[in-house]
Amino acid sequence: MEKVHSIEVEQTTSSRLAQVDFENLKFGHILSDHMLVAEYNNGAWQSVKVVPYGNIVMSPSSSFIHYGQSIFEGIKAYKQENGDVSIFRPDQNHERFNKSAARLEMPTVPAEIFMDGLKTLIDLDRDWVPPTKDASLYIRPFMFGTEAALGVHPSASYTFMIITSPVGSYYNKPLRLKVETHYTRAANGGVGFSKNAGNYALSLHPTKLAQEEGFDQLIWTDAEEHAYVEEAGTANLLFRIGDTLITPSSETILRGITRLSIMAIAEKWGLKTESRKVSVQELIDGIENGSVTEAFAAGTAATLTPIAEIGYQGKIYKLSDPATREFSNKVLQYLNDLRYGRIEDEFGWNL
Ligand code: COI
Repeated sequence: MEKVHSIEVEQTTSSRLAQVDFENLKFGHILSDHMLVAEYNNGAWQSVKVVPYGNIVMSPSSSFIHYGQSIFEGIKAYKQENGDVSIFRPDQNHERFNKSAARLEMPTVPAEIFMDGLKTLIDLDRDWVPPTKDASLYIRPFMFGTEAALGVHPSASYTFMIITSPVGSYYNKPLRLKVETHYTRAANGGVGFSKNAGNYALSLHPTKLAQEEGFDQLIWTDAEEHAYVEEAGTANLLFRIGDTLITPSSETILRGITRLSIMAIAEKWGLKTESRKVSVQELIDGIENGSVTEAFAAGTAATLTPIAEIGYQGKIYKLSDPATREFSNKVLQYLNDLRYGRIEDEFGWNL
């Protein structure tokens, strides 16, 4: 792969920072001053620039618009107690991004663009990392096919970009989730593990139907039998069943980095952990007999959001009061302390 030696930086002459109300951040509505743009064509990455945030020009026949070669990541940067900025495990996102790229027949993005680009951008926009409680700078790397041609084939050219947005919580209350038993998110051999735009587009209609019934999001189930739980709308699922922390496992599920981190912390704390199939019946029986003591959604945007209720076949199953959940509350506190630099980073996760 062609070596890109430098990242050109063009600074904005009219920062929008002073207009930001860091106390009232809606997820993804405010975008920071700068963005990174890298162009790929003729089989190589050609240029990498950091420029003022703004609109981009594209051909109406750009392949991603028609055929969906479009992938992304979600990462967060935190303002530490001592004023430094830390980025949480971006190396893991880089690895996952390139797996998504390979599945969608797109070029991989080398570390000198993804990781160095990220650092250059965050360094320039470091004052956009919110100083407020529970807030962070959401980092959105993404790549899309730009070839102007209507035939169905891998695009010959791509744009990789990173934009950032100061955010508060994605969900602001415990979730009511509906177990989806008709629509399917992903099947074996498909693209469920990748973070591609289509996985989110297909979720919108079934999610809207569930929201009309008063739910916040769906719990997706397997494509074959709709008998095993997979993931929630925009996050992974974790359950404490008996003395074990369990997360559903299947090739169709997104390999969440928050989930990975929570499982690693649980193991370090001596809790039993399992990644395995979890049937809807096991979950429902466990809620009814009291062995499911905790349930939560975990993701970069979602952080750790407790699940309050689960709807299945017209019945509502209520879980314990989120305030009383021992592990969820402790691990969320720990993760926050680690990311905001209030405790030692014993895992080496803060970049
Ligand atoms: C993330 O947690 O980064 C996500 O991908 C969720 C996003 C689609 C809002």
